[in-house]
Amino acid sequence: MPVLIKVLGFSLTLTLGFTLVTNLLPQIEGEAPVEKTLDLGAFTEESFVALGEELFKGKGTCTLCHNDMGRAPDILKMNMVETANDRLADSRYQGDSKEAEAYLQESMRQPSLYVVKGFGKKGTNDSVSPMPAIDKPPIQLSEIEMNAVIAYMQAKDGNPVTVPLPSAEAVPTTTEEKQTTAPAPIAETAQEAIGQFGCTACHSILETESPVGPDLRTVGSRLSADEIRQSILEPNAVITEGYSPMMPGNFADKMRVKELEMIVQFLAEQIND
Ligand code: HEC
Ligand code: HEC
Repeated sequence: MPVLIKVLGFSLTLTLGFTLVTNLLPQIEGEAPVEKTLDLGAFTEESFVALGEELFKGKGTCTLCHNDMGRAPDILKMNMVETANDRLADSRYQGDSKEAEAYLQESMRQPSLYVVKGFGKKGTNDSVSPMPAIDKPPIQLSEIEMNAVIAYMQAKDGNPVTVPLPSAEAVPTTTEEKQTTAPAPIAETAQEAIGQFGCTACHSILETESPVGPDLRTVGSRLSADEIRQSILEPNAVITEGYSPMMPGNFADKMRVKELEMIVQFLAEQIND
């Protein structure tokens, strides 16, 4: 009997893990996700690449910075395998990677091992990257998710995909990560909403620091609630001095009123350090 319970518990964990992973896949709406969950062969190279694209543009927050606005290299327009090989051959490269896949993996975990010229943090002479570590909060992609993103960066320019597709052995560990990090559909608190909408990728707020946008830990002393609301809904109406207009303009479409108001109120209260 205890054995049976264990077995049941294990396959439930498996099911849950795969439900969460496959739920990230685009275009499976309308089909019961449960049917897909136990099929370990469900990840083809194509669907894994599609997952990577979804993560690149969504949860991974990569396109917040990697776009054509000039604040980070425009990965969508670059062949990242060729780029990686150039970086590896550059004397400024400080990591241990020997080939492109490892370089891309390393770029996400330790961005400062190679800082693209002109893109380093201000005043560090391109020795410190402003890019957040993708395997750490708030973004915190799992191993499988980072592999999917690499698969996407490789495949989008016709390079061979070299990362492993997720296997049964990989599941139990990612299940645990997933249970704590999978975003809730509707945020219950301001903190949760700020995490979900990726504000922390660019702003110092909550427990994280980022120099891309103004520090929000004291924003309540600079701006009224109405001004904060406008900054979120129409980021380019007023550009904070010393910063470039790179805050996404589509939060108005993505946020529910409740989420917006929770964030506005929370930020308006950020007065002291
Ligand atoms: C807050 C902004 C920001 C976010 C979010 C961000 N990056 Fe970056 N990234 C940068 C900047 C700036 C650089 C250039 C400086 C450097 O080399 O680290 C960079 C560099 C890179 C490089 C190396 C590029 C090269 O030419 O060698 C890769 C690869 C990369 N990012 C991938 C990603 C991926 C994948 C994601 C999402 C999972 C992501 N980044 C999220 C800002 C960001
Ligand atoms: C891709 C980076 C990025 C993301 C993501 C981002 N911001 Fe910003 N934000 C900026 C930059 C850069 C500025 C300053 C330039 C400007 O005013 O548009 C800014 C300005 C602001 C301001 C005005 C601050 C001041 O002191 O003037 C507020 C408030 C703000 N952002 C809130 C948010 C919230 C809330 C989120 C998440 C829902 C968010 N931002 C997401 C980059 C970003």
